[in-house]
Amino acid sequence: MSNQDKVRQLVELREKARLGGGEHRIEDQHKKGKYTARERIEMILDEGSFEEFDMFVTHRSHDFGLENQHYLSDGVITGHGTIDGRVVYIFSQDFTVFGGSLSETFALKVCKVMDQAMKVGAPIIGINDSGGARIQEGVKSLAGYAEIFQRNIMASGVIPQISAIFGPCAGGAVYSPALTDVIIMSEKTSYMFVTGPRVTKTVTGEDISTEDLGGADVHTSKSGVAHFKADDEQEGFMLIRKVLEYLPQNNLEDPPLAECNDPIDRMDDSLNEVIPEDPNKPYNVKDVIYPIVDHGEFLEFHRHYAKNIVVGFAHFNGIPCGIVANQPNFLAGVLDINSSRKAARFVRFCDAFNIPIVTLVDVPGFLPGSAQEYGGIITHGAKLMFAYGEATVPKVTITLRKSYGGAHDVMGSKQLRGDINYAWPTAEIAVMGPKGAIEVLEGKNIAKIEDQKERANYFANKEQEYRDKFANPYEAARYGYIDDVIEPRNTRFRIIRALSTLSTKKDKNPVKKHSNIPL
Ligand code: HXC
Repeated sequence: MSNQDKVRQLVELREKARLGGGEHRIEDQHKKGKYTARERIEMILDEGSFEEFDMFVTHRSHDFGLENQHYLSDGVITGHGTIDGRVVYIFSQDFTVFGGSLSETFALKVCKVMDQAMKVGAPIIGINDSGGARIQEGVKSLAGYAEIFQRNIMASGVIPQISAIFGPCAGGAVYSPALTDVIIMSEKTSYMFVTGPRVTKTVTGEDISTEDLGGADVHTSKSGVAHFKADDEQEGFMLIRKVLEYLPQNNLEDPPLAECNDPIDRMDDSLNEVIPEDPNKPYNVKDVIYPIVDHGEFLEFHRHYAKNIVVGFAHFNGIPCGIVANQPNFLAGVLDINSSRKAARFVRFCDAFNIPIVTLVDVPGFLPGSAQEYGGIITHGAKLMFAYGEATVPKVTITLRKSYGGAHDVMGSKQLRGDINYAWPTAEIAVMGPKGAIEVLEGKNIAKIEDQKERANYFANKEQEYRDKFANPYEAARYGYIDDVIEPRNTRFRIIRALSTLSTKKDKNPVKKHSNIPL
């Protein structure tokens, strides 16, 4: 073969590899409203930046007729490229080859990019669209999964790991995305479950559709397994890029500063009026978030799950920050099992990647009741407390209104190493709300009053007395638990100044193998 022929052969092999499982399977993929593995990579990465590895890999199986079927790349496309000029590693499962199922060689390819991502200190993106373990390969495929899981675990907290689910992701295969930092699911075309509808029906008798068992809606609103639901793959690609804007390349770097043309001293008068006069009335905490962050841009995680707490990324004068905010508009912003888990995971995510945390507090306490107690609210609430107390990144807390009881301590309080704690004049920082407090303190006296009207008056007077004495920020400020009481419209400026002061903050935890967070 002449040298020219050799070059021609290379070009032909590349062409063949690019066709994956063949044209008709690519067509099928498109008919399902899905892009192919390579198209996805092209659209996620900066144009022309993709460098592919292992294009010529094929499987080594000889069973069930596989010896006669070889496809270059073997069902997964791997390599690296850039997003906004920053290096990322990527693997993208190719459903057109054996349904994107995982073989021994497939796993080796994925492990190779994961290892390189760790060496280089760059994020890894995984695109999932697969029928799971390649059935013909048996235990080699299971071992391959476990090799990937182990790498997910070692990479956790070292490099950002982002998973997109754009097709099937079932059985044990779900555990690789589950071990990563962020999961994005596309609506209608993706699903995740440990056990599919057919086996579910056989084992439990439950008759349920794929969508209802593990679709994007389910995992972004009911289970909280996924963080984002994308209307389509295009939106999913955008979300991957967006999330990375806030993240450093690895845990040893700071997150990248963004350009900011939004004046740091921009006042917003609406904030002086956002808290209703009636302390029992709700409001939307996002009406506080949007006016204070740069350009009103807030990337909300878990938007449809545990809506009583809001978490997400924003910039303050270009500094990427995690925001954690109780949401009075939903269940009065109470902390319960799901909101505690959601916020705890987010706080740890921020801390792992050196992202400061801004906490906006309006919390009436923990949700009472047997359902919560039996479900282990004690352990789950402790997770959030643990996450805040363990975090060494800069922490700025603003108490907007209620901050009662244990929930006060949990939500970025001074004693959980809150660095700068401000309160609005509308803040009510106390052991409990006035009504509950008077019931405990005056219950016996009130019971002795026979006249109903007199009793109500007595209660109201006592409630007011308690409110005047304790339901304000000044009692906490008197002890230095609050550093200052600030004017709401000036909140943006005060947060930015706090963050810039804290930019050189150094804090550390005692040396240990690892903590024993109440999981
Ligand atoms: C080998 C597979 C495969 C698999 C699909 N294919 N899944 N080949 N191993 N796991 C092949 C099909 O035979 C078919 O080949 C092609 O991929 C496309 O699949 P279709 O079934 O035609 O596609 P579709 O109708 O869209 O259905 C997709 C699907 C279905 C729902 C994913 O293929 C399916 O149920 N697959 C099996 C899923 C499964 O049980 N996996 C093992 C789970 S156990 P041809 O040549 O006909 O086009 C597991 C354990 C992991 O994963 C444990 C980790 C710890």
